[in-house]
Amino acid sequence: MAMTNMVSLGARHRQVVQVAVAISGLLCILGLASRNFTVVPALAQLPAPTVILRANASHPGRQMPETLFGLFFEEINHAGSGGLWAELVQNRGFEAGGANTPSIFDPWYKVGTEAQVIIGTDRSSPFDRNPVALKVEVLCDDDHKGLNFCPKGGVGAANPGFWGMNILAGSKYRVEFWLRSTYSFNLSIAFTSRDGKVLAREYLSVDADANGGWSKQSVVLKAKSTDHYARLSLTSSTKGVFWLDQVSAMPTDTFKGHGFRKELAMMLSDLKPGFLRFPGGCYVEGTRLTNAFRWRDSVGPYENRPGHYGDVWNYWSDDGFGYYEGLQLAEDLGAAPIWVFNNGISHWESVPTEAIGPWVQDVLDGIEFARGPANSTWGAVRAKMGHPEPFRLHHVAIGNEDCWKPFYRGNYMEFYKAIKLMYPDIQMISNCDGSSVPLDHPADYYDFHVYTDPNNLFAMRHQFDFTSRSGPKAFVSEYAVTVNSGHGNLVAALAEGAFLIGIELNSDAVHMASYAPLFVNDNDRRWNPDAIVFNSWQEYGTPSYWVQLFFKNSNGAHLVPSTIQADSSTSLASLITSVVRKHKSSNGLDYLIVKAVNFGDCALNLELEVSGISANDVVAAESYITLMTSEALMDENSFTNPLKV
Ligand code: AHR
Repeated sequence: MAMTNMVSLGARHRQVVQVAVAISGLLCILGLASRNFTVVPALAQLPAPTVILRANASHPGRQMPETLFGLFFEEINHAGSGGLWAELVQNRGFEAGGANTPSIFDPWYKVGTEAQVIIGTDRSSPFDRNPVALKVEVLCDDDHKGLNFCPKGGVGAANPGFWGMNILAGSKYRVEFWLRSTYSFNLSIAFTSRDGKVLAREYLSVDADANGGWSKQSVVLKAKSTDHYARLSLTSSTKGVFWLDQVSAMPTDTFKGHGFRKELAMMLSDLKPGFLRFPGGCYVEGTRLTNAFRWRDSVGPYENRPGHYGDVWNYWSDDGFGYYEGLQLAEDLGAAPIWVFNNGISHWESVPTEAIGPWVQDVLDGIEFARGPANSTWGAVRAKMGHPEPFRLHHVAIGNEDCWKPFYRGNYMEFYKAIKLMYPDIQMISNCDGSSVPLDHPADYYDFHVYTDPNNLFAMRHQFDFTSRSGPKAFVSEYAVTVNSGHGNLVAALAEGAFLIGIELNSDAVHMASYAPLFVNDNDRRWNPDAIVFNSWQEYGTPSYWVQLFFKNSNGAHLVPSTIQADSSTSLASLITSVVRKHKSSNGLDYLIVKAVNFGDCALNLELEVSGISANDVVAAESYITLMTSEALMDENSFTNPLKV
């Protein structure tokens, strides 16, 4: 596939606006602004076959759904835990190995030698659902007359977070933890760099509590220097025993003040998502039901969330990003929340339909948590967390990829009937594909997932051309090129762009679409590729992220009918285009947005003829062109070259 990456924009023409774009293996958008419409200045033509795209701007077009393009957030690749959830401490409650002792307190480690300090877990926590705490026995003593002096900075325990904590000079961090002690001492709370430099420190004067009671402590540390791979240490230089539990460190500056890592949340917000599907994926199912995500364990005070081991993606999560946080994130992004719940089916097990009753009640409780009044049982829990107003939950998905598993249909119907009875407005999403044959059960949407190679996804731009326009709508909740896609490359994004244009054209059959997965922490890839790559302090969008940005104005826009014409020697097989019209309220202009993907080997001149507007109404200064391209189809972005593609 040859790449020439050259673009020419065409000329003004009385009642017809012409825009000529030469494209080869790249996706381009022409954004034409006008009181009606406009065009950008003319550039040179290219020696390539010319294809004419004709659109009538005065045609009202068909309005596309407000929810057409959105996001799918799954706890995979440390998307939440060690990612979007800004908690810096990993394994805050020392429970990663379960509720029994000895538990796994990894990645916590001992500060000091064996002769100076002993650390280990016991079950003395004040939290009934998190019984494990960390016991720190300090053996050294600065005041001691003997020889066992504590080292500078004291001894105790430290946590390196998720492959290092990003501590920035001038920034503030709130450190909270629970403490129990039977003696008086000064506790040092510090962020230190990899090489042991103190970046921020506060001392807490701890009084002996004769009853050995627990108390919550909170300090704000302001960093005086930067390290992207820092750690948090809690240390003492006085002989005695103390206990720690539920240690948290968060930057005070988070997205909308709700605990989301700001730069990552901004990348989501830039996409103007119409919906947020969460929290999985397979994560919702679990390999075993006992390890599946359960909403009620992920709400309420963070200290008393038990956390769980996600046995599909194989890591522990403290569940700081839980059900409540998913709803809150959707609200903060202006997106409709779509809650995917477990329907009694994991990868290995299925609860028989006759026993599904308690699972149905659990989901009804979950909906009450989201939508119930603040004086309802579960609405009160939500209100106590700081959100007395109901969340706007109008969509739920009954399971994930479970259509052909035992008891799915029976279980589905039990959930469907109970939810429709209590919440008739809630739209329900089936796991069974209704794109080619009608569903054998009632649903508002059917879920459609596709992971494939670039050529096949390009071919799938026609996937919904012949899908029934009546009955449930398609929710393409997971799509991506996963073959020959490296860690996310240009050719994958081109195919995805073509597929999404196909969805725009078929947006009377497809009402929602989201790429998957959204995030990957580069230190622990569980799935590849992903839209946004990050580590403790950096982030970049793969081409698959940037291609989604081309569609950020599509939600609620009008699809303008268009035709493509070429001479008989020119093949149109590699080209897909769409024309949509969107009003921008901030400047009062209408935009005609033309998107095109040329997936073929040859450059094409795309000439745009727009009728139905006057050339005088063109606002050239507000018009723009956006190109996605790079030198080679396999090119990827990276931390060092985040905008290569
Ligand atoms: O997106 C990654 C996984 O792919 C999802 O968890 C699952 O639904 C699909 O199989």
